[in-house]
Amino acid sequence: MNAIERDYYTDMSVLLDPYGWFEEMRAKGPVCRMANRDLWLVTGFEAAVEILNNANDWSNAISVSGPLLPLPFAVEGDDITDLLVEHRPEIPMSDLLVAKDGASHAQSRSLIAALFTPSRLRENQTYVTELADKMARAVVANRSCELISEIASPFVTYVVSDILGVPEEDRDEFRKIIDAAPPPGSMEAAPPPGKEIEWAAKSAELQAESSSNSPLVFMAQFFYLYIAERRATQRQDDVLSEFAHASFPDGTQPDIPELIRLATFLFGAGQDTSAKLIGNAMRYLVDIPGMQTQLRENPALIPDFLEEVLRLEGSTKAVKRLAKRPMMVGGHQIAAGDKVVIAISAANRDPRRWEDPLEFRLKRPGIKQHLAFGRGAHTCAGAPLARYEVRIMFEKLLEHTRNIWLVEEAHGPAGERRWDWEATFSMRGLNNLYVGFDPA
Ligand code: HEM
Repeated sequence: MNAIERDYYTDMSVLLDPYGWFEEMRAKGPVCRMANRDLWLVTGFEAAVEILNNANDWSNAISVSGPLLPLPFAVEGDDITDLLVEHRPEIPMSDLLVAKDGASHAQSRSLIAALFTPSRLRENQTYVTELADKMARAVVANRSCELISEIASPFVTYVVSDILGVPEEDRDEFRKIIDAAPPPGSMEAAPPPGKEIEWAAKSAELQAESSSNSPLVFMAQFFYLYIAERRATQRQDDVLSEFAHASFPDGTQPDIPELIRLATFLFGAGQDTSAKLIGNAMRYLVDIPGMQTQLRENPALIPDFLEEVLRLEGSTKAVKRLAKRPMMVGGHQIAAGDKVVIAISAANRDPRRWEDPLEFRLKRPGIKQHLAFGRGAHTCAGAPLARYEVRIMFEKLLEHTRNIWLVEEAHGPAGERRWDWEATFSMRGLNNLYVGFDPA
């Protein structure tokens, strides 16, 4: 079937492997229309950077609810800024940090500084090192594991719990709830082309019905108790206490729901993304001949290795923006109210930016300019944390092994590998990865 007829949101072949489709779309230009959808697609690196760096003309309001939901207002005129302010409460999840714009975004983002202080990150690294060591030793002692469920997911949940100061005795409970939740962006969440409006109404109904069971509601209840308790008492020497007493740069205090939204959002943002990076990185580590030996001999190369994995197989496929005003991008006139899907994983393979983009190069010049963590005002706030937690896990797995190998019964022999990719349109990650270990 012609690329133009395949649908990014519902076609299983595209969901499982978006890269071929991205290349076919790129052939039409760095910015193009998506077939059957009222959306623009950006695959070009330069156009992606231009949009991401312009938080003035582009809004993030749709970044959590996604571009398929119809806007709750009719677009009129050449500037939708006021309409957006007026109708923002009707856009689902537009009060989450990543969906905020302008001053309100800057204010919420400043609260993260209360959590991610340099001393807090140092303490967390000590915790991460001990945890990674313990988990790596345990799976290596067993000689094999399913990496996603036995290492990646539990590890990152414990790490985010620690950074947020969730008491140790509650961390297992958090893990169970998160494990039971459906993956974000899963297939069921996309309407067939042309059915967006009916689907929006139905999904709002379903959401209202199921919201009492959602892991976010559960976490919100937990955080409410933690934060309210600490607000009511003297400042103590713990992270949640710092967070509960955090103030905006102008000295005012955020209300408790704002803090809860931020804490639960951090859980969502820092969970699946980092877990998927562990799986994606391990796939390259064991499948590129000589790579693990090189990194075991010289662990200082692990950060370079991870950056190249982030470029080639970042966990986030795309981010979304809404045009507040008309603009020219990539040779196209975009109208106020238009929505764009910025395929950062396609921009990270754009041959106009990256020499031999499909080749894995360990020390690629300018590698840190990849867009796996976004760019501009909404650049991933957890990137430093993600980088060190995954680096430390790989250091430990390599330290405790002589060899890590893929289990061929699950993934096939070299040259004929089989991978079980998650069928989502927002993320890129494996459902499972079976590896074996020869202990050091
Ligand atoms: C490999 C791991 C990760 C990847 C690939 C990743 C990717 C991203 C991307 C692409 C964005 C930009 C979204 C946009 O522009 O619309 C983002 C934003 C964000 N990420 Fe991450 N992320 C990762 C890990 C984390 C972690 C560990 C945390 C925190 C615990 C975190 C917290 C955030 C937050 C708070 C934002 C919103 C920033 C803002 O809107 O100002 N992320 N992330």
